[in-house]
Amino acid sequence: MGSLPFTVSDLQTSVSGVRSNPTLLCTPLMGTTVEQMLTEMRKAKEIGADIVEIRLDCLRNFSPAQDLQILIKQSPLPTLVTYRPIWEGGQYEGDENKRQDALRLAMELGASYIDVELEVAHEFNNSIYGKKPQNFKVIVSSHNFHNTPSTEAIGNLVARIQASGADIVKIATTALDITDVARVLQVTVHSQVPTIAIVMGERGLISRLLSPKFGGYLTYGALEAGAISAPGQPTAKDLLDLYNFRLIKPDTKVYGIIGKPVGHSKSPLLFNAAFKKVGLNAVYVHLLVDDVEKFFNTYSAPDFISGCSCTIPHKEVAIKCMDTIDPIARKIGAINNIVRKPDGKLTAFNTDYIGAIEAIEDGLRESNGSSPAVGSPLAGKLFVVLGAGGAGKSLAYGAKEKGARVVVANRTFERAKDLADKVGGQALTLAEIENFHPEEGMILANTTSVGMKPKINDTPIPKHALKHYSLVFDAIYTPKDTRLLREAKESGKIIVYGTEMLIRQGFEQYKNFTGLPAPEELFRELMSKHA
Ligand code: ATR
Repeated sequence: MGSLPFTVSDLQTSVSGVRSNPTLLCTPLMGTTVEQMLTEMRKAKEIGADIVEIRLDCLRNFSPAQDLQILIKQSPLPTLVTYRPIWEGGQYEGDENKRQDALRLAMELGASYIDVELEVAHEFNNSIYGKKPQNFKVIVSSHNFHNTPSTEAIGNLVARIQASGADIVKIATTALDITDVARVLQVTVHSQVPTIAIVMGERGLISRLLSPKFGGYLTYGALEAGAISAPGQPTAKDLLDLYNFRLIKPDTKVYGIIGKPVGHSKSPLLFNAAFKKVGLNAVYVHLLVDDVEKFFNTYSAPDFISGCSCTIPHKEVAIKCMDTIDPIARKIGAINNIVRKPDGKLTAFNTDYIGAIEAIEDGLRESNGSSPAVGSPLAGKLFVVLGAGGAGKSLAYGAKEKGARVVVANRTFERAKDLADKVGGQALTLAEIENFHPEEGMILANTTSVGMKPKINDTPIPKHALKHYSLVFDAIYTPKDTRLLREAKESGKIIVYGTEMLIRQGFEQYKNFTGLPAPEELFRELMSKHA
């Protein structure tokens, strides 16, 4: 791979509990009673939040003098008090003077921060001039629930907030595209005043996760997934445990998975656990990307994005953004692993085929006792691929590369023919596979979706036809034990699970990202725990 993307100085010893950045983690309290909020405060502290945001507008029957006293005095964490009116996206509909009176009272009763909207900030800040307790700070906020304006408009907005007498600037815009985050960070990273910059919505997630990298004063983490105070807010637990929030620093390298949808991906779990264990100054995030080209054009710094995994629907289209591509990946026409070299150039791989082929090779070696040094046990074998989609291509090109003779069988014959011609092999329809046995000891790789949840009783080939094969691989991993693999096992065949392809393609990605050996044990442990 040439030079390693990480130098020795990048290697940090990061012990659990170590904190590498001053960015605060604030948990909003959304309870509708004082009692509920008191319970939520204790939970927030337990989870590891630094401060709690008391959302007064969520309280039913709020009685300022009594409730604020209890909430502020009994909080086990410093408090930020917000009383968001309906005109700024909150729930308060009442008299404006009473609202501001409650905020002033919160200040007097010992709140550490109050959040006041830009719209009324001048008036409010004038009213407390000379009365602010020591260490008390006013956050002046502005929310845009429609979009993220131009860089110039964001710059003007920040200037207006500063001029209103803010101790801390807060802007929250809405991401229509992940590249909107770049404009907000571009402005706020240079702000002279402490700044909270949030880009709401799933496409803005990185503004929240990476706030320590960009010097953010604070980020919000929900108590639970169902109790968010703004769109796209992660839970405090995910920030801390999944994304290693406390370890992120300005020079932390950012990796991620680009896809749409992408929120379900377990890759951040695997990579962040590995980075933490090895002590790499890196983080791996979910990246909901609509337009790949725009994404790579916008995020082109060597530490952001340092590399990414690539999933549906971008595996093919991302190719046009690459500077170099692994030759087999180019033939397959799909990439799933992108690495940015120190010179900024993007190199792409297809680790799916490597993962699957290596798993099959190891299965064969285990059964015949040969060592990896001997060469591929696939050389000269007849390798039957069922299916001619993306996974079918990966397996067919991968097997061909190892010197196997390839047969492609597909429901739609034309697709089988097309792929078989490219790998110099034979094409069949899926129906013909039952009576196809030109020789014994063949390899079978299913890449069709036949047998996948929920149709787990389906199988692409009758059991009796399996006797001509020595090894059966199924790319399906939901369920792990497909009917095909169960019947192959009963027939005494070597079987290779789809989960092996999945996990091994991850090993390859890790090696390409870091230049280090993959933490195989850890990946396997996490995969089985979170399957
Ligand atoms: P992937 O990227 O996972 O390979 P794909 O490109 O959609 O997904 O390919 C799905 C494969 O499963 C194709 O080979 C498809 O056959 P067709 O080319 O005839 O569509 C195959 N497949 C899907 N459902 C099938 C079914 N019910 N019976 C047989 N083959 C099926």
